Amino acid sequence: MHLDKLKSIADVDVAGKRVLVRADLNVPVKDGRVSDATRLTRLLPGLKELSARGARIVVISHFGRPKEGPDPAMSLRPVAMKLGELLGRPIGFVPECTGPVAESAANALGPGEIAVLENLRFDKGEEKNDPEFAASLARCGDLFVNDAFSAAHRAHASTEGLTHLLPSYAGPLMLEEINALRTVLDNPQRPMAALIGGAKVSTKIPILKHLLEKVDKLIVGGGMANTFLLSHGVDIGNSLAEPDLVGAAREIMTAAKHRGCAIVLPIDAVIAREFRSGQAHAVVPMLAVASNSMILDVGPKSVAHMKEVLKECKTLLWNGPLGAFEIPPFGEGTFALAREAARLTKAGALVTVAGGGDTVAALNAAGVVDDLTYVSTAGGAFLEWLEGRELPGVAALLRAQA
Ligand code: 3PG
Ligand code: MG
Repeated sequence: MHLDKLKSIADVDVAGKRVLVRADLNVPVKDGRVSDATRLTRLLPGLKELSARGARIVVISHFGRPKEGPDPAMSLRPVAMKLGELLGRPIGFVPECTGPVAESAANALGPGEIAVLENLRFDKGEEKNDPEFAASLARCGDLFVNDAFSAAHRAHASTEGLTHLLPSYAGPLMLEEINALRTVLDNPQRPMAALIGGAKVSTKIPILKHLLEKVDKLIVGGGMANTFLLSHGVDIGNSLAEPDLVGAAREIMTAAKHRGCAIVLPIDAVIAREFRSGQAHAVVPMLAVASNSMILDVGPKSVAHMKEVLKECKTLLWNGPLGAFEIPPFGEGTFALAREAARLTKAGALVTVAGGGDTVAALNAAGVVDDLTYVSTAGGAFLEWLEGRELPGVAALLRAQA
């Protein structure tokens, strides 16, 4: 992909034009209230700028995974209200995503005004990338801006289909996310480390294979490290592992060795009988994990070793927690290393880009999100990028702009 060629909406005259902005408003909502507004906050500068330039802004997004058409529990209304609150002014909400109601709402917008259309997934045409659905969406805009990097791994009507129908541009958040990933993956300051954690190695094998070609050190933590430890013959007791993937773990270690990429595994562990809060726990060397216990976090010696690795590096890519951080005290390893990454980043010694799945929750719990170079708001899209895959939403923009 020739990402340098990605055209930004920044250079386009948008005054008086209806601009369809594909945002990712898929935020956590509890009891009708947005419980984490990070994705919305990140959209604000781009929306404000478009508004100041006189665009008539129609925001489109999916929300959740509705099964059978419209579902009031998955309406975007509360999210639109929150977005208006954060923007500091009322914005419109249109209870349809296509058709006469949506079109007349779009047509009625004055320069600088913003309206949010209802959840695109209420229409099956969205996920099917149905050309007719895309065409009905396109009737609500003159230009298309994709500012939803975190939905760019989906080839849906609002991420792919629209690019065939309207002049299409990348939004500022899309570009920011891509630039952060390119900074660490395409031309990193070396040495570079990747820290890959999380529960299951099965979901991360393509990422590990892709990264070992690019990084100097690969720090492996979380439940997925157990499968690597198994392949070394370590007795991991009742710990979560995927024994059928021991071969894959070996292949990764062989390939890493061949490539000169050092794999860093935990050398001690925090163990408990069960994964429950209030359990007695102990710190043990990796070779002394009791057969009736499970590994739930990396131990302090591992943290110390991993900190040394970070100190030697200039670039860090972080995806996934090192332990079961949701239940104390099994987040301590993740938090301690996150604080060290934040300290080094603040000191200008390390460029740290993090993202994907549970990562943001873990780094939020560690209280370091604002101290890292960039924390992505993307989950699946971030992971697919780390696999080296082309994201359909990004590819569609490039094709449309060529
Ligand atoms: C996300 O939250 O990862 C994106 O909004 C994509 O949502 P999806 O996995 O339901 O397509
Ligand atoms: Mg997802």
